[in-house]
Amino acid sequence: MKRISVAAPKLSGKEREYVLDCLDSTWISSNGKYITAFEESFAQFCGVKHAIATNNGTTALHLALVALGVQPGDEVLIPTVTYIATANAVRYCGATPVLVDVCPGSMNIDPADLARHITTKTKGIIPVHLYGHPAEMASIIECAKTHNLFVLEDAAEAHGAEFMGKKVGTLGECSTFSFFGNKIITTGEGGMVTTNDDELATKLRLYRGQGMDPKRRYWFPVIGYNYRMTNIQAAIGLAQMENIDQAIAERKFIAEWYNQALSTLTDQLILPTEATWAQPVYWMYTIFLREGDESKRDAVMHALDEMGIETRPVFYPMHILPPYEQESTFPVADVWAQRGINLPTHQMLLKEDVGRIADALSTALSTALRLP
Ligand SMILES: Cc1ncc(COP(=O)(O)O)c(C=O)c1O
Repeated sequence: MKRISVAAPKLSGKEREYVLDCLDSTWISSNGKYITAFEESFAQFCGVKHAIATNNGTTALHLALVALGVQPGDEVLIPTVTYIATANAVRYCGATPVLVDVCPGSMNIDPADLARHITTKTKGIIPVHLYGHPAEMASIIECAKTHNLFVLEDAAEAHGAEFMGKKVGTLGECSTFSFFGNKIITTGEGGMVTTNDDELATKLRLYRGQGMDPKRRYWFPVIGYNYRMTNIQAAIGLAQMENIDQAIAERKFIAEWYNQALSTLTDQLILPTEATWAQPVYWMYTIFLREGDESKRDAVMHALDEMGIETRPVFYPMHILPPYEQESTFPVADVWAQRGINLPTHQMLLKEDVGRIADALSTALSTALRLP
């Protein structure tokens, strides 16, 4: 039986044509028409003034923090449930990622838990739109305004998601995206920073290119980084942008197929919900076992694996990982993260695949939940 992977890119547009154009023209490095075209297309899609392409989503985060002026000794608030890149990027600046609890279900940063973590050293907040569902940005922005903090959206997993009708990537001082192979659109490896702030955009471009003065070649007023994207990556990205609306729509269909196929299992599972103010995108369709069943999660995933279905555990909270370990004061993350499973979510999935996954999940649950 065919193995179903948890993620897979769809490269059915002009990716090949544009990449061959790079090779034929020899524009394979970090100059070339596709970089500008990709940046412009992404900026237009988000409805933002500037988009600055980088070589991955982690460097996009680091670059954004550098441009925002984060320094050693500063503190930046992040959700404890995220991909480790969010925390690492803060550390790369010599600053401290301060962990905040998350909301049940969405696992996004809990605005009500921000205040207790704010000190005189706090410089900003990084809400992460986890698995494609936007964080509750209104309260986060209000808190940031009250305490004079920046908001940097980590939208690595949420291209095209909307908060109260506004696309993510436009809501904070700046925002970052990832184009890793499993994302809503991909460039293989790649990232983007978006901002409406002209001054910030100039800084982002300066620091991305080793800090070289754009008006004076080989003059470096600051220490920068080589975080540039290649023309080949951007060529793939531009082709992906031509189909991004379809990608989002197809993922929404997959979520609807799952909602329908899993509706009979809701006594054992919690399915994703959409906040009234949110238009999520389905990067990873995420389910949770019921409270008390956390010790069965890995057995469920193992049983699915045996039936040819790859899944992923919801990210381990940062506060239990060795680099960021601390005594827990994160009751929601502790109770929810260990029950979460990401099911296969990608455009190559067919409706019958989702049916097969639902059947397999039903079998896996009936076996695993009976375990002592
Ligand atoms: C929330 C989040 N932030 C940052 C990143 C980092 O992106 P990249 O893997 O492109 O470096 C990812 C990537 O998976 C992510 O999920």
